[in-house]
Amino acid sequence: MSTVVVVGAQWGDEGKGKIVDMFASRADYVVRFQGGNNAGHTLVVDGKKFVVHLIPSGILHPGTVNLIGNGVVVDPGILLEEMAELRAGGIAVTPTNFIVSGRAHVIAPYHGYADKRREELRGSGKIGTTGRGIGPAYEDKAARIGIRIQDLRHPGRVKEKIDRVATFRGYPKEGDPAGGLPSLRDIVDMLVEHGVKLAPHIGDVSQTIYMAATQGKSVLFEGAQGTFLDLDHGTFPFVTSSNTVASNAATGTGVGPRCLERIVGIFKAYTTRVGSGPFPTELHGAEGDALRAKGGEFGATTGRPRRCGWLDLPLLRTATRFNGFTSLCMTKLDVLSGLDTIQVAEAYRLGDKVLRELPDDPDEIARLEPVYRSFPGWTQEIQGARTLDELPKNARDYIKAIAADLGVPIDLVSVGPGRHENALTWQPFGGA
Ligand code: GDP
Ligand code: IMO
Ligand code: MG
Repeated sequence: MSTVVVVGAQWGDEGKGKIVDMFASRADYVVRFQGGNNAGHTLVVDGKKFVVHLIPSGILHPGTVNLIGNGVVVDPGILLEEMAELRAGGIAVTPTNFIVSGRAHVIAPYHGYADKRREELRGSGKIGTTGRGIGPAYEDKAARIGIRIQDLRHPGRVKEKIDRVATFRGYPKEGDPAGGLPSLRDIVDMLVEHGVKLAPHIGDVSQTIYMAATQGKSVLFEGAQGTFLDLDHGTFPFVTSSNTVASNAATGTGVGPRCLERIVGIFKAYTTRVGSGPFPTELHGAEGDALRAKGGEFGATTGRPRRCGWLDLPLLRTATRFNGFTSLCMTKLDVLSGLDTIQVAEAYRLGDKVLRELPDDPDEIARLEPVYRSFPGWTQEIQGARTLDELPKNARDYIKAIAADLGVPIDLVSVGPGRHENALTWQPFGGA
């Protein structure tokens, strides 16, 4: 077997979708292992844009089998809509090329409601979630009351489990469980109906990957969100509710950690974040606005403007420790074209201390002052570069300095959203 795990090294939206779509041309299987439809992964093929939220980014390749692992939380209605949209765009989604694990947990309408209600209760301390019910669905999983995808095939089980949720969460068993929601009875009917439609796609993802391993197939694990949105390792509490780091690719699909061979971190040539929480190199004002405009930095899921700032090396060093990257891919280098000077945080100052990595105490994180190194910029646009030699020297020096600092090779440099828009291209499963 040959395996590659792709994860975001920052706060999400690093361009994982583009890279996974590229790598998937050589992969037999692509598998999502955590998160849900809080993700928005953009794929651009021949100028046509697709945004996938739940279905793995390998779906555009006819020969690739796409899997949703047990670690994902699945909103079955959204999944069915996404399948229908892809089919309407001429993409085949069949029980042969798309399977969802029976062990994955279900996002039900009351999860979205609870997500939004909790944000209201947090007031000024709100996380800025995507409102998709991700946190509450993982809560029900941890509370051992969650409904699993395999349950949807059994109407009796769905009813029994919904009754248990109602008891645990104090929802009335008849009528509206909370303002504006369908009754629990209607939710049962809806989930059972979704189950009928999804049934041909429900399978055992762990066994599928295990079989693939014995047959020497290639498997690509597609991370969602980014390292600093990880529930344990991110900037808690401003995180998502799953583990986004590479090691969860094993737990989230049901394979042993020795199955994870190469770990690829995707990072932008600068930094962005959607939602609340600390962001040491954030640019407020005109410079941040310019990056947002040039980079089209608006969320692929919620459309919210992304906060923008300079590249943060302490953050990437910390991400390298959490994930054990064997390769890095830099995206959106083209967005930096035209700047006189590009700043990169080399360290943080905390009082009279200088830190090389992100500390874990929120009070300390709030007091960090980035120590910047200036790099000279370049004037020409670089979206057309297809080799490193076609990049201006200052752009090459920027790439080299980052790889040298992190001690991990940058094997791919993306300079545009399209599959082939790379100044340095790479296929981890081999081939051009
Ligand atoms: P993901 O969540 O990590 O898959 O990233 P998103 O799809 O949410 O956001 C990345 C955005 O940047 C998308 O609109 C991509 O089409 C776009 N993109 C990816 N790589 C590049 C690049 O190298 N240059 C430019 N200009 N855009 C890129
Ligand atoms: P992709 O896979 C960027 C952020 C939300 C919020 C926090 C918690 O496209 O990179 P949640 O709804 O998960 O409970 O929200 O996490 N967030 C993302 N930010 N990219 C994502 O996914 C994200 N998924 C969640 O904005 O700050
Ligand atoms: Mg995204």
